[in-house]
Amino acid sequence: MKKNIVANWKMHKTRQEGLSFLAALDHTEHVGVYIAPPFTLIQDMAEFVRGTSVRIGAQNMSGHNSGAFTGEISVTMLKDVGASFVILGHSERRNIFLESDEEIAAKVERAVCENIPFILCVGEDREEKNADETQEVIKNQLVTAFSSLTEKHLKNAQIAYEPVWAIGTGDVATPQIVDEVHMFIQEVLSEMFSRETALRTPILYGGSVKPENFSALVELKSVSGALIGGASLDVKLFNQMIKMIKD
Ligand code: 13P
Repeated sequence: MKKNIVANWKMHKTRQEGLSFLAALDHTEHVGVYIAPPFTLIQDMAEFVRGTSVRIGAQNMSGHNSGAFTGEISVTMLKDVGASFVILGHSERRNIFLESDEEIAAKVERAVCENIPFILCVGEDREEKNADETQEVIKNQLVTAFSSLTEKHLKNAQIAYEPVWAIGTGDVATPQIVDEVHMFIQEVLSEMFSRETALRTPILYGGSVKPENFSALVELKSVSGALIGGASLDVKLFNQMIKMIKD
């Protein structure tokens, strides 16, 4: 399976900075390169990469199609400006903006109905990890988010395991933890859908990924790539990580 490297820029960069990043981006066809800038950069960046394999997407979207939802952006609007994927259920959406599993499920359903590829983020926080609840938390997140889906709806889906305790902390999960949790996610997908779907659905790791720890994580068979925050803002580091993915 082709490995994917996904940049989540969170609330960073202006349009000019986004375009300068793309001008210096060194991508190759054998790696799936995805960038999720803030909404305001999507159109310019999508136009810049048109005709290449680089994909520009969004960090979030509404679970509604249109209506009186001040400040929200719909999937139709995202597609209109050239977004070709969307990240859903990021822990910062869950924890800071209090998105519930049910709201995230509505967003997943919207993405599926509108046929936009999505990356669903799951992961436990430090307290849950210490209480040995990682599997329970992740299973719950997956089961709720995918409750209304059937196997065919997962063909454009990726899952990102992002332990909250590893995000922005420098405290990266060990390859052993990542491997165990990714296998567990595959088990849950097997139970919910089929073994085939479980093996076909890319599972990314995210949380303090940087060039120093990238290879050990991404080379694992259970890891289909990485979702990167901080280290994806610097094009030199991002290029370095793309290069580390072997043919
Ligand atoms: P960091 O790579 O900055 O830890 O962020 C991870 C993340 O939240 C990506 O979505």
